[in-house]
Amino acid sequence: MGSTRRGRFSERPARWIHARAAERNGLDAELIDLREYPLPFFDEPVTPSAARESYTDPEVVRWTEKVKQGDGYIIVAPEYNHGYPAVLKNAIDYVFEAWHGKPVGFVSYGSAMGARSVEQLRLVSVELRMMPIRDALHIPPAIFNAALAVDEAEALSLLEPLREPAGILLDQLALWAGRLKSVR
Ligand SMILES: Cc1cc2nc3c(=O)[nH]c(=O)nc-3n(C[C@H](O)[C@H](O)[C@H](O)COP(=O)(O)O)c2cc1C
Repeated sequence: MGSTRRGRFSERPARWIHARAAERNGLDAELIDLREYPLPFFDEPVTPSAARESYTDPEVVRWTEKVKQGDGYIIVAPEYNHGYPAVLKNAIDYVFEAWHGKPVGFVSYGSAMGARSVEQLRLVSVELRMMPIRDALHIPPAIFNAALAVDEAEALSLLEPLREPAGILLDQLALWAGRLKSVR
């Protein structure tokens, strides 16, 4: 989940795509909530690439260990001022090597379906030696706005027409997670 603010929308698409991933054979999916990793705003004297994951802040250590466990990721990406949320960048920046050689896919929403946020995340992910998946799930504004206005159960049902693009995203993520794991 790429946002942590009170009343965030990200929980809804995150729960939905997690359920789609969890129901597939061969995928072990975990929903990761940045609220459970209250990282300090980045304040380390050594850069992540030089530190080689030697940071000692307990929340940072816990977050790094969580990232290490994954073979691939889906970032649920809100759009804040045509970019992605600062809390997400902070979490991304703390980790370096644990991102390397892993695929990352995107679920996004917003007035332009979160496309601008995702394009920025693609650039950042390459710097982290990740492989961004071409096929993203961009939630159309009509579905996003409708799903904002209802309770969670109804919101999840409004996302159901998106099963096809979600399936393509998950197919690609699973394919590259497996291939890149053997390369790593
Ligand atoms: C600081 C801020 C900036 C925003 N900027 C944009 C924007 O540039 N484009 C857009 O489509 N929506 C924008 N929005 C509206 C968000 O798409 C909407 O609030 C969405 O629910 C944010 O995701 P979240 O609920 O998971 O935090 C912005 C919202 C916030 C809080």
